[in-house]
Amino acid sequence: MLIRNGVVILVDGPVRLDVRTRDEKISELAEQLTPEPGEQIIDAEGMMVLPGFIDSHVHFRDPGGTHKEDFLSGTQAALAGGVTTILDMPNTQPPTNSREHLQEKKALAAQKAVVDYGFYFGATDTNIEEAAAVADQVAAMKLYMGSSTGSLLVTEFSPIYRHFSTFPLDKPIVVHAEDEQSLIYFGAQGSTEHNRARPPLSAQIALSRALAIAEKVGRALHIAHTTTQRELELIQEARNKGVRVTCEVTPLHLFLTEDDQQRLGNFGKVNPPLRSKSDQAALWRYFDVIDTIGTDHAPHTKEEKMQPYQKAPSGMTGVQTMLPLLFNAAQEGKVEPGEIIKRCVVNPARIFGLKDKGALEVGKDADIVLIDPQQVYEITNEKIVSKCGWTPFAGTKVKGKIQQVFVRGKLAFEHDTCLAQPGNGRHVHYAYHHSLYA
Ligand code: DOR
Ligand code: ZN
Repeated sequence: MLIRNGVVILVDGPVRLDVRTRDEKISELAEQLTPEPGEQIIDAEGMMVLPGFIDSHVHFRDPGGTHKEDFLSGTQAALAGGVTTILDMPNTQPPTNSREHLQEKKALAAQKAVVDYGFYFGATDTNIEEAAAVADQVAAMKLYMGSSTGSLLVTEFSPIYRHFSTFPLDKPIVVHAEDEQSLIYFGAQGSTEHNRARPPLSAQIALSRALAIAEKVGRALHIAHTTTQRELELIQEARNKGVRVTCEVTPLHLFLTEDDQQRLGNFGKVNPPLRSKSDQAALWRYFDVIDTIGTDHAPHTKEEKMQPYQKAPSGMTGVQTMLPLLFNAAQEGKVEPGEIIKRCVVNPARIFGLKDKGALEVGKDADIVLIDPQQVYEITNEKIVSKCGWTPFAGTKVKGKIQQVFVRGKLAFEHDTCLAQPGNGRHVHYAYHHSLYA
């Protein structure tokens, strides 16, 4: 297949390039490629050509929560959002905390997924050896230092230290860094403002612990959803000292604040919470320190969200809206388009060792998104493919509309319609892992 006349977004910026694919891979990239006899041709005149995004942070609820999402609906939502690879979090029911549960989850995804996928292994107080033993089958370990949706939680020093020193040091441990003791304390103060019930201090305490232990044992650490200036300062300082730490931010925290939580009520409740305007501004100011953008796509039904504050679960959808929101921000001049590719494609592939992913480059999987940069549309709840059917960004207008999505060279999504069949998605292949720093 030959994609002609488009503008390809590389990390260094947009370039006019033709892209040839063969047998699921990108086989040639050049200014002008001559069609071969019988070759399928896509005319991308006026289009932007992007590598498929990697969402390294989704919660697809399969098994155990399939009334809100499963591997089919979740990966269809991903396709609609130009995401061609997802890494699924372990806080399902049962949690992905044993070899057996990991195998069960693999089987479910193999039947249903329409994009490529990998999994996290969930840390518990006791599964230290088992986690290390299955490390080569997962993208990373996920360790919850503070409780959120589901039962995964590790707060004591001993299991944290043992996980940090036993799990292969080059494979990241991804930490949900909110300190449980302080969450219990602040949660009991009676505030229904989520940013007070789970304040920035809780994130700072947990992050400091994780950084200190990672420094001591010399391991790769990835901080999920950083939300405050203080966290980014601590990460930068640790990195300067040689700690192998990378970090993520979510579009929720880039584009929304605690004022939006007031407006959205429980629909704006997420862990860690939407923060102050000044913390939000810091995420953009410290953009250089941020390595990945992951959505933390965490669907909950409207009914679940309409319960009282204390009972309503935390999390919002995001896998379908990340690319449109970021592409729109690039069009508004808020960020260079190449900087988005770096954080949504290149870095996730490097950090999680996704050997066939990570760039529009010869030899990589032909995961490709075509966008019409001129088309303006409104994000609405009706267009949300996720089973839960709502987005905190309803009513937002964005410029740039996804036209076609290819997964490994095959047209998988076109004109708002998913063409891929359940099971077309494949498990990713892992290679060596290396931190971006030190
Ligand atoms: O808000 C959140 N929702 N934060 C998490 O850590 C988990 C997620 C979920 O799975 O619902
Ligand atoms: Zn999450």
